[in-house]
Amino acid sequence: MRLIKTKDYDDMSRKAAAIISSQVTLKPNSVLGLATGSTVEGLYEILAKEYEDGLLDFSDVTSINLDEYAGLAPDHDQSYDYFMSTNLFNKINIHRNNTYLPDGTADNMDEECRRYDSIIETFGPLDLQLLGLGHNGHIGFNEPADSFSKGTQYIKLTDETIKANSRFFNDESEVPRGAVTMGIGSIMKSKTALLCVSGSGKAEILKEVLEGPVKPQVPGSILQLHNDVIVIADADALKYVEI
Ligand code: F6R
Repeated sequence: MRLIKTKDYDDMSRKAAAIISSQVTLKPNSVLGLATGSTVEGLYEILAKEYEDGLLDFSDVTSINLDEYAGLAPDHDQSYDYFMSTNLFNKINIHRNNTYLPDGTADNMDEECRRYDSIIETFGPLDLQLLGLGHNGHIGFNEPADSFSKGTQYIKLTDETIKANSRFFNDESEVPRGAVTMGIGSIMKSKTALLCVSGSGKAEILKEVLEGPVKPQVPGSILQLHNDVIVIADADALKYVEI
């Protein structure tokens, strides 16, 4: 594991964006596993700016997102599809048909999970999987559980996640109760995993993820066993970790 401590959120975003830029520069047809959420907004902004400045070309990149809320159509302004379009895809030259997200509105979630696994199988293993960390240790939407998931799964969100994500909705009651998420097994097969964490609110869980026992009750702890994981976290998030 490589652990990089940054001054603050902006510094974390710059360093994470630099790793993704290098990945795309060194391998223009990279398969990127992408995440959504506040943690990655800053780094997507930097990547979009680098594209605008002619420094990056995404025309051969394929992206496979981690997750999508159940019940939200791509044009819903809180869907992860919408997040990706507005924060990144519409600002760079990636081909939209080379971008994949689970379909949160699928009638048959089991079939949707298998469909998504076959996409991951076809393009994988992911060259680089970008990850944020939930307050409860989730990666993707793999919530604390009794075992680690292998493939894509439909998951009921925990009250903690619903509360944490309610900041993006008008009201907590509007937060979808379920999601479709790439499995931990697929995340672990990525060639490189890049975990970004910011803020003192995640300091306790980050310490558990990095130093605690590997257990499905703290899903992110599995990353201790990843062959090539880079953790970029700011000083606030690392306040309980000695480095
Ligand atoms: C989103 C995802 C989640 C988030 C995590 C942190 O695609 O996979 O695991 O990365 O919930 O969210 P933020 O960055 O909003 O704190």
